[in-house]
Amino acid sequence: MELVNNKDFKAIIMDQRTGKDSAQWEGTTLDYLQFVQDDPKLARFAPGRIFDMIAKNGTRDVDPSLKTRGYEDLLQYKFFDGKIFGTYEAIHDIMRFLKAAARRTETGKRILIMVGPVASGKSTIAYLVKRGLERDTSPVYAIKGCPIQEDPLHLIPHEDRSYWEENLGVRVEGELCPVCQFNVDENHTDEDGNVLWEDVVVEKFRFSEQRRKGIGTFQPSDPKSQDISELIGSVNMAKLTRHGETDPRAYQFDGELQVGNRGMVEYIEILKADIKFHYVLISVAQEQLLKAPRFPQMHNDTLILSHTNQTEYDSFKADKKNEALQDRMYPIQVPYNLRIDDEVKIYEKMIKESEFANIHIAPGTLRVAAQFAILSRLTASTKVSNLVEKMKLYNGETSEEFKKQEIDLKALRLEGRENGEGMFGISPRFIINALNIALGTKEEKNCVNPIDIIRALRQNFDHQIGITEEDQGRFLNLLIGEKDSVSFEYKQFAKKQVNMAFLYAYEEQANTLFDNYMQNAEAFCKKEKVFDSITSEYSNPDEKLMRSIEELISVPVNSRGEFRNGIFVYKSSCIEKGEPFTFMSYTPLKEAIEKKLMSDLKNVVALTIADKTSTDEKKQKRRERAMRKLLPLGGETPKSHVDYCVHCANMLLAFIGEVLRKEE
Ligand SMILES: Nc1ncnc2c1ncn2[C@@H]1O[C@H](COP(=O)(O)OP(=O)(O)OP(=O)(O)O)[C@@H](O)[C@H]1O
Ligand SMILES: [Mg+2]
Ligand SMILES: [Zn+2]
Ligand SMILES: [Zn+2]
Repeated sequence: MELVNNKDFKAIIMDQRTGKDSAQWEGTTLDYLQFVQDDPKLARFAPGRIFDMIAKNGTRDVDPSLKTRGYEDLLQYKFFDGKIFGTYEAIHDIMRFLKAAARRTETGKRILIMVGPVASGKSTIAYLVKRGLERDTSPVYAIKGCPIQEDPLHLIPHEDRSYWEENLGVRVEGELCPVCQFNVDENHTDEDGNVLWEDVVVEKFRFSEQRRKGIGTFQPSDPKSQDISELIGSVNMAKLTRHGETDPRAYQFDGELQVGNRGMVEYIEILKADIKFHYVLISVAQEQLLKAPRFPQMHNDTLILSHTNQTEYDSFKADKKNEALQDRMYPIQVPYNLRIDDEVKIYEKMIKESEFANIHIAPGTLRVAAQFAILSRLTASTKVSNLVEKMKLYNGETSEEFKKQEIDLKALRLEGRENGEGMFGISPRFIINALNIALGTKEEKNCVNPIDIIRALRQNFDHQIGITEEDQGRFLNLLIGEKDSVSFEYKQFAKKQVNMAFLYAYEEQANTLFDNYMQNAEAFCKKEKVFDSITSEYSNPDEKLMRSIEELISVPVNSRGEFRNGIFVYKSSCIEKGEPFTFMSYTPLKEAIEKKLMSDLKNVVALTIADKTSTDEKKQKRRERAMRKLLPLGGETPKSHVDYCVHCANMLLAFIGEVLRKEE
C-alpha cells in the first residue's frame, strides 16, 4: 500500500463521514405517522423494500434473443453490475417473486428456493442482497427496544386500523410482539386503561448482519444437534427464575427469523435441515406468523432467501413424503452461465479476488477455459450442427453461415432450457482450480497460456470426484477432439492472431490495397474512368480487383453497386464528423481487406515462423516486425490478458509454427 505522508487522517475520516446518512433519529409514533403520510413506502413489507433497493439502481435492456417465452420483459439489473455476470433469468425470477411477496399474493407466500448446480452463484446472489440492504439509505423505523425491530404501525389498536390504513394509504399487518406489548401495558397505559400508543418511542435503524438487525443467516448443522431455537430464539434460564415462564423478559427473541424481521434471512442448504424446521418456515412464508413456545404467535415480515444444490433438490423431490412441503416452495433455477463473454468476466472477477492476481494471463486463455466450461453445459439440438456452433450463437457470434440458415435463437434457447441446459457441467470453481494447477506446475510462475490451461483442465478431470467415466469421455472430446472442440477453436484463434500480427506489420500493403479499391469504387459510382498515374492513361474501373475483395465478405454481384455506394455514404459521414477515413474505418471493408491480405500472406507466415532455426536475415526481420505488433507495449509485461508479453508472444509463434509444420 502506498504511504500517505503529511496527511491529516482525522480530517480524512471526517470527510469520509460527511455525506453518509446517519441512522440516528428518535421520536414518537406520532412523528412516525407523519412520516408515513409523507412517504407511505416506509410501511412497505420486507420483500417490497428489497425489490425497491435492487430496482432503484436502474436496469438496462438485454439482447432481444434472450427474451424467450416467459421472459419477454427480461432486464438486466444494474445492482449486480460487476458482481454477477449473466444469470439474468434467475435474477428476473427473484424480482418477480419479490413483487408478488410484497403484495402478499399466494405466489409470494411460498419459500423462495434457489436451485442450481455447484458454484452457479447462489450464495453470491444472497450475499449481494444482504450487503445491498446494509448499504441501502432509504430510511426504516422500528419501535425502540423491540427485539425484532418491528414496524411502529403495529401499535395502532385494531379497531382504529382501518382509519389509518385508509388515510395513510398503507396496510398494517400483525400484532405487537410480546416485548412491546409488555412495554405498552407497563409504560404507556394510563390509569383509566387508555393506551397512549402515539407516545411510544420510535427510532430509525440501519440493517446490519453484524449487529443482528434485519439480516439473519441460517445454516443447518449436524442433523442430530439441530436446535430449533436457532430459528425462533430461546428461554433465558437466568431470567426465567426472576420473571417467570410467560414473561417476555425471560425469552430471547434472537433466532435468525426474529433477527431477520423487516429484512431477510439467508437460509443455506435448506434441504439439509430437519423437517420440523421447514414447518416453521412455511408458517412464516404463508401467514407471516412465528410461534415461540408459551407465547402467542408473532408477526414476522421476512424474505427467506434459501438455496440448495441440484442434487439435493432432486432427491428431495423424489421423496413422496415431501410432497406437501414441495408445494409450498417456490424454486428458482440458477443455472450456469451459457455465454462465453460473461463466463470470462466471472473468471476475471475471481482472479482479481485471488492470490494470483499478478500473473500474466496470455490472450485467449480465459476464453479457452470459458469455452470448455460452456460446452460442458450445453445440450445437443437438431437445430444446429454441433455444440461449438451453438456456443457461438449463444455468445452472439453470428457469422454469415448462421445468418443464411436463419436459426431462431429464441427457439434454440427455449429448447435448451427445457432440456436442463446449464444445470450440469463444469463450474467456474473447477476452472479456477485448473488455472491454479496450471500455475503450480510451471517453473517460471509468471505466465499461463491457453495450452497450459488445456493441459491442466485435462489433468483435473482425474482429481475431481463426481465426474463419471462417461462425462470424462465427453469432456475430453470437447476439450481436445479433432474438430468442434476447444483446442480446434484455439488453433483457429491463434492462427488469426499470428496472421493479424503479420498483416499489421505490413500495414502499408493494406493501405495500398484500400486506396486502390476506393479509387476504383469511386470511379464506378460516378461512372468515370480511372486515371493511371504511371501510364497516364484512363481506363475502366478494375472490376476484377473490386470483386476479389468483395467476394471475401459475400457481397453478391447484383448488389455490388449498393455496397460501393454505402461505403461513400459512410465516408462522407466520417468527413462531416471530422474523422479520418482509413481502411479500418468501415468494418465490412476492413474485414474484406484483411481476408484478402491474409490469403496472400499465408505462405509468408508459414515460411517465416515454421523454421525456427533459420538464420535468414529477411525472415528474422519479418518475425521481429510481427513480434512488435503482438507487443504494443514494447515488451513490458502487460496488466491485462488482452495483450501479449514477450514470453507469451514467443510461445504463440512457436505453437503456430508447429501447427503449420504439421499441416504441410
Ligand atoms: N454468474 C456468476 N457471476 C459472477 N460470479 C459467479 C457467477 N457464478 C459463479 N460465480 C462465482 O463462482 C464462485 C462460486 O459461487 P457461489 O459460491 O455463489 O456458488 P453457489 O451456487 O452458492 O455454490 P454451492 O452450490 O457450491 O454453494 C464465486 O466466486 C462466484 O463469485
Ligand atoms: Mg453456496
Ligand atoms: Zn416488538
Ligand atoms: Zn505472458
